[in-house]
Amino acid sequence: MISPFFSPPLALAPMVGLSHSALRLLVLELGGIGLFFSEMLSVGKLPIENEHISPYLSRTPEESPLFYQIFTGPGQDLLPAIERLHSLNAQGIDLNLGCPAPALRKIGAGSFMAHNLVLETVRNIRAATTLPLSVKIRLGKTLDEKSLVSFCQMLESEGVDMLTVHGRLNGEKFCRKPRWDWIGKVKSNVTIPVLANGGIFSVEDAKRCLEQSGADGLMLGRGAVVRPWLFADIAHALYGAASVERGSLSDIYFRFVTLLEERFQPERRLGRLKQFTHYYAENFAFGHHLASGVQNAQTVKDASDSAMEFFQKTET
Ligand SMILES: Cc1cc2nc3c(=O)[nH]c(=O)nc-3n(C[C@H](O)[C@H](O)[C@H](O)COP(=O)(O)O)c2cc1C
Repeated sequence: MISPFFSPPLALAPMVGLSHSALRLLVLELGGIGLFFSEMLSVGKLPIENEHISPYLSRTPEESPLFYQIFTGPGQDLLPAIERLHSLNAQGIDLNLGCPAPALRKIGAGSFMAHNLVLETVRNIRAATTLPLSVKIRLGKTLDEKSLVSFCQMLESEGVDMLTVHGRLNGEKFCRKPRWDWIGKVKSNVTIPVLANGGIFSVEDAKRCLEQSGADGLMLGRGAVVRPWLFADIAHALYGAASVERGSLSDIYFRFVTLLEERFQPERRLGRLKQFTHYYAENFAFGHHLASGVQNAQTVKDASDSAMEFFQKTET
């Protein structure tokens, strides 16, 4: 079953510092996107974020559908956060159960959440909202098909509407090849839609991931930062979408800079530009020069000048 929530079934992954309004708008302009996920948001902080200035909540109406991803640990009150998401016009809520970051270990959230707390949390969210509820997981602590499948079936039976499976074990680094076939073990044992995630950087990767996982759709993370037009290419190649004209690599880069300037307070721009550039630089044989020039900049203007110099050398 293809997800009833979005078409084409291609989603931008939740990524801290990257999955924000400016990247979403860039991806929208380039085409092919079906669903956005926000970066992970703390259940404790969500209710007190000022939506008019918060870089985490900044959003235009075109950035839809958008699932806000939340993380929570023991003893946190979910209700104010869910109410906030309702008032922000969320199209869905995603629970982060896959993130292995040390900050989440400290509070027993993400992939460190105890099994009984997962059950309680999902039940509480489900009772508090009629919005679509999705959950993002990794494959678990060890490769154990029975536990993985029964965990996912438990999520489904508690009213979760969609799963995203990042095809790596909790402790595995990004350099390890993702196990797309293991995503298939989830897909064939639940009836809700499953998104496959991990290691999709090209149309070929997208094809192979879908073949190996049988998933209903794909979630792209780093690949969408390196190539924000990758959704459009996949939508064209696999889902019959029209091909989309796009500008040069430098046009796209400076469009992102403009969107950062439009969407964020001045002090929130440079860090995000550096983070984006770290990935975007992979488009170039000598991209480390682009990345290091921007990394060393003190202002967005300096960063843009440095990038311009790089593009002039590269594109002529
Ligand atoms: C910089 C960065 C930040 C991330 N932040 C989040 C996050 O907030 N929530 C989450 O569930 N996963 C997070 N992830 C994991 C991604 O959503 C995704 O699962 C992972 O990058 C694998 O997909 P990819 O190979 O397409 O990048 C993050 C990954 C990166 C690289």
